[in-house]
Amino acid sequence: MIGSLVADYLTDAIQDAASDTSGSLAEYIPELANARPQNLAAAFAMADGTVHGAGDVDVPFTIQSISKPFVYALALAERGFDEVLRKVGVEPSGEAFNQISLEVGTGRPFNPMINAGALATHALIGPSGGDAHERAQRVVDGLSAFAGRRLVVDESVCSSEMETAHRNLAIAHMLRSYGILEEDPRAVVDGYIRQCSVLVTTRDLAMMAATLANHGRHPLTSEQIVDESVVRQVLSVMATCGMYDAAGDWVTQVGIPAKSGVAGGLIGALPGQVGIATFSPRLDRHGNSVRGVNLFHRFSSDMGLHLMSVPPASRAVVRSHRIVGDGADVIRVLQLQGGIRFAGAERIVREVADASPGEHTVALDLTLVSSIDDVAQRMLVELARRLTIDGCRVILIDPESVVSETHLADAGSIDVVPRLLLASADEDRLTARM
Ligand code: DON
Repeated sequence: MIGSLVADYLTDAIQDAASDTSGSLAEYIPELANARPQNLAAAFAMADGTVHGAGDVDVPFTIQSISKPFVYALALAERGFDEVLRKVGVEPSGEAFNQISLEVGTGRPFNPMINAGALATHALIGPSGGDAHERAQRVVDGLSAFAGRRLVVDESVCSSEMETAHRNLAIAHMLRSYGILEEDPRAVVDGYIRQCSVLVTTRDLAMMAATLANHGRHPLTSEQIVDESVVRQVLSVMATCGMYDAAGDWVTQVGIPAKSGVAGGLIGALPGQVGIATFSPRLDRHGNSVRGVNLFHRFSSDMGLHLMSVPPASRAVVRSHRIVGDGADVIRVLQLQGGIRFAGAERIVREVADASPGEHTVALDLTLVSSIDDVAQRMLVELARRLTIDGCRVILIDPESVVSETHLADAGSIDVVPRLLLASADEDRLTARM
């Protein structure tokens, strides 16, 4: 009962969303025109792999364009940023997903979320000049790693789309004529359509999104599928281009990096928090699921999920600031807490500087610090170094070793201890245990 709190919320949300029957199925792919329009599901996958779901979360459908960010991630990981960026840009096109267009000047597709960019990205998987079937299989394997289970292709959707793939063939031939594609255009379209025809469930998509939200590490398999710098690039492109010509509305109103597919899937990945997926096959004029878009609007506002709505980072980092002991043993103790990044570290430095400690000893207590990023570590170490130059003794209380050895090496002579041992209960005398 208690454990189903989030699932109950999702059940309410999809019940409310169900009354909207506007939009239409993706009829340009004959097999998709046979989809069951009433299907409706929503799932949240958390960083520890827990999935909260409601509705048809285990009904399979084809991934379609939701494959694009994941294949972009695989291409970046395999080929590196420079090579991928030479072939595909990162600018929002403001156009439909299947627009026949290239960036003026570079001749590159605008971004990897529109078909032109996705075709070029698909061709970057595996060795250049490699076999088209092996490339497509490699893509399916990569998507499976993101899902954490072996995914398969829906052969009937695949052959159905291939029969009517004139637009994608036109785009691929255009890319070939501009030298963006060096492979046979038909083979690339074939592989790209296989990529789009991979079967997933809403639960799978939530887990794939959670892998992006979890800095590239799958929440259940713990496999680091791509590294953090790749995930940052992918999420940035999803935020700006994932919803095609509705991207501006999306990023301002929903504010979650997202990607839609014409079979009705929609994912959102909120870094550090949650992977979200919805499924409902009727689409709006942009090719995005009508009910999916509505659900994301609701999730974002109900739960404050907009990327730009972040809690003040610095206010709470100094939990307490006390002077303990007396005489020669007096110590200024700053108890720090939570996640510390640049603004938090700046706050700590200022707190110490404003106090201009006359005491001989300053202790920074990191016991309650859950994370401290690279810049914050460097700033605290520099603070410690400067204090020691001023003749202060600095004690870093760091039981979980949140500050790395590498940074500590730059700190000069500071004492790192697991805890302060108080000599008496009223903290009037204390000694540091080394
Ligand atoms: O390229 C196509 O037409 C499809 N296989 C995928 C398009 C798609 O999902 C667009 N997204 N909403």
